[in-house]
Formats: sequence, C-alpha cells, structure tokens
Amino acid sequence: MDNRLTVYRPEYEDLWFRKAMLEDEKTMSYNHAWGGTIDFPEDDWQSWYDHWIIKNEDKRYYRYLKDDENFVGEIAYHYDEELKGYIADIIIHDKYRGKGYGELGLKILCEIAKKNGIRVLYDDIAIDNKAISLFKRNGFKEEYRTEEKIILKKEL
Ligand SMILES: CC(C)(COP(=O)(O)OP(=O)(O)OC[C@H]1O[C@@H](n2cnc3c(N)ncnc32)[C@H](O)[C@@H]1OP(=O)(O)O)[C@@H](O)C(=O)NCCC(=O)NCCS
Repeated sequence: MDNRLTVYRPEYEDLWFRKAMLEDEKTMSYNHAWGGTIDFPEDDWQSWYDHWIIKNEDKRYYRYLKDDENFVGEIAYHYDEELKGYIADIIIHDKYRGKGYGELGLKILCEIAKKNGIRVLYDDIAIDNKAISLFKRNGFKEEYRTEEKIILKKEL
C-alpha cells in the first residue's frame, strides 16, 4: 500500500498554499489556453472557503494532498449542472511532480468519490494536456472531444 500521501482538509489559514499554486507559472502552464496563472487574493479567500469547504452541499469536495513534510497539491470534484455529473480536479505543485504523486492522488480521489456515493467521475482536460495519459492509465475513457478539450469518464 502506497501511503506517501495523506488527504488534508485545509484550514482557512492554509489557503496560502492554494494561492502559491495558482500563481505559479510552471504549475499553471496546463491552463495556458485560459490564461495560465489565476489570481487568488486574500479578499477572495472567505467566499471561496465557504463555498468549497463549509457549505459544500455535498456537491463539492476539496482537499490538499500532503507528503511527510509539505502540502504538495490539491484534489477536488464538483457537480457540474451542464454535464449533469461530477468533474474531477487534481493539481500537483510543479516542485513535487514526477514522483508518482499525481497518479497516487488521482487514485485517492477516485476512492473517496466512490465512498461518497459517486458512481461516475468526469474530467474535462485541455486537448494538449499531457495528463490525459495519466487519466487513461487509471481507467478514464474518452467520452467526447471538442476543438479545445477532451471529456474523460470513469465508472467508479
Ligand atoms: C497531471 C499532474 C497532476 C501529474 O502530477 P505528477 O505528480 O507529476 O504525476 P506522476 O508523477 O504520478 O506522473 C507523471 C509522470 O511521471 C512519471 N513518474 C511517476 N513516478 C516517477 C518517478 N518516481 N520518477 C520519474 N518519473 C515518474 C509517470 O510515469 C508519469 O509519466 P506520464 O507523463 O507518462 O504520465 C501534474 O502534472 C499537474 O498538476 N498538472 C497540472 C494540472 C492538471 O493538468 N491536472 C489534470 C487535469 S484536472
């Protein structure tokens, strides 16, 4: 059993790490088609925290991934009204990539979603994102694609 990562529910004060990830150019390069880095100023933290953590309405799940010492990334899913399904999200900070954390984090996210009663998980992923192979290796299959993105689906 690979137990190098633990799942951590961030406290409000821990949101500095999310801010650091979203503002890091290398971490966010996968998002280049939609502007790359994302501002996450402290003024936005409270409403974000309420929406994702406090009042998640069982439609949103958000956690940090932690190794022995540091926060290394985030896992999340949320219900998408248009898709009528849950969309997964995983980001590993660029500093911690290439160690298997992405793969392990995705497995953990799928297990948690399943435990929470979700039967199908989707991901919409930019067409040039190398992470597509990671998702396919872990049981996600292409549902359809547009010019910009591929929609992947996994039965949990
Ligand atoms: C996708 C992402 C989560 C992968 O994170 P990661 O921690 O680098 O993932 P892994 O280390 O598990 O795997 C990455 C690659 O490193 C390889 N690898 C795994 N362990 C390794 C190790 N110990 N040494 C060298 N390489 C390793 C894997 O085989 C994998 O190869 P691949 O490119 O063929 O898939 C990360 O790149 C990221 O945050 N990207 C931006 C966000 C994103 O695109 N998310 C997906 C859509 S929601």
